[in-house]
Amino acid sequence: MGLHPVGIVGTGKYVPERILSNKDLEAMVETNDEWIVTRTGIKERRIAAAEEATSDLALHASRLAIEAAGLTAEDIDLIIVATVTPDTLFPSTACLLQEKLGAKKAAAFDLSAACSGFIYGLATGSSMISTGMYKHVLVVGAETLSRITDYTDRNTCILFGDGAGAVVLGQVAEGRGFQSFEIGADGSGGDLLKVSGGGSRLPATAESVEQKQHYIHMAGNDVFKFAVRIMGSAAEEALLKAGITKDDIDLLVPHQANIRIIQSALNRLSLSEDKAMINLNNYGNMSAASIPVALAEAVEQNRVKEGDCVLLVGFGGGLTWGASVLTW
Ligand code: UT7
Repeated sequence: MGLHPVGIVGTGKYVPERILSNKDLEAMVETNDEWIVTRTGIKERRIAAAEEATSDLALHASRLAIEAAGLTAEDIDLIIVATVTPDTLFPSTACLLQEKLGAKKAAAFDLSAACSGFIYGLATGSSMISTGMYKHVLVVGAETLSRITDYTDRNTCILFGDGAGAVVLGQVAEGRGFQSFEIGADGSGGDLLKVSGGGSRLPATAESVEQKQHYIHMAGNDVFKFAVRIMGSAAEEALLKAGITKDDIDLLVPHQANIRIIQSALNRLSLSEDKAMINLNNYGNMSAASIPVALAEAVEQNRVKEGDCVLLVGFGGGLTWGASVLTW
């Protein structure tokens, strides 16, 4: 793929301290631990402190990723932050992060592709290195979903959590790094998962707040069906493009939305559960942050070794999806 081989040369993650457990949610909405665990696999999630915003979570994860890459912030040429919960409409969270990191030489922009945003970011950043335009790109998935979650809606509030994951992309040896990308979108499904208010269509008004238009609204069942279908097909497409088969996969790092969605992807790829990095029990769905946090934990736990074949796959609002095959 491309002129120069590009791969991940450092990873980092950060999750806020505060834990919101299923038991805590039982006191907030009509739900119970058993329902949440059997229907989603989630046990607890992290919630950002009042003074923490997305760029703060991103900062911690980014510092770790840059350090792991053996670089300093001044070595970063471009910062891409994938998020649906930016600190502000503008400036971008990537610009806020650039300032906090002291990454003076870096260009910076946000990328909006919901839960698929991190894989979209990898595809964008790696292309820019592959062509020789940049040497080091910081790609971050960071979310404070608790700020757009309606904690009176049991259909959504049990699912989401806050966190950030970051990677540094750089040139790697021949045969290593990204082998393929498969990213896609189907805008006809946009209404299935959205925040309607706060943009140019429906600016914030007392009425829009009253009507809860600034919170996530989701047709859970329809998104579930889409997810099951697309996780399998996006993964297979990425494998095909990389010229490998499912037997070659050493580790699957899926978007962490629902254990049943992950299990269906494993079935489709005929993989056993020990081949998947699963941490949604601890963090819930962190949208764009889910895959990079899971990847950073896989690295921490020595679950990826040099030469391993890693498959990343996710889906989300838009609707969007993304998958990538890389040789570690
Ligand atoms: O990153 C992408 C974002 N989104 C997703 O990935 C979400 C994909 N969707 C899902 O994960 C699942 O659809 C959910 C976990 C959201 C819901 O699970 P489900 O198996 O699709 O349940 P359902 O929506 O069909 O609801 C089944 C029942 C309903 O009761 P009735 O109508 O059958 O009486 C719900 O009202 O479960 C009820 N229910 C709950 N009960 C206890 C819904 N939420 C809860 C809850 N606690 N929190």
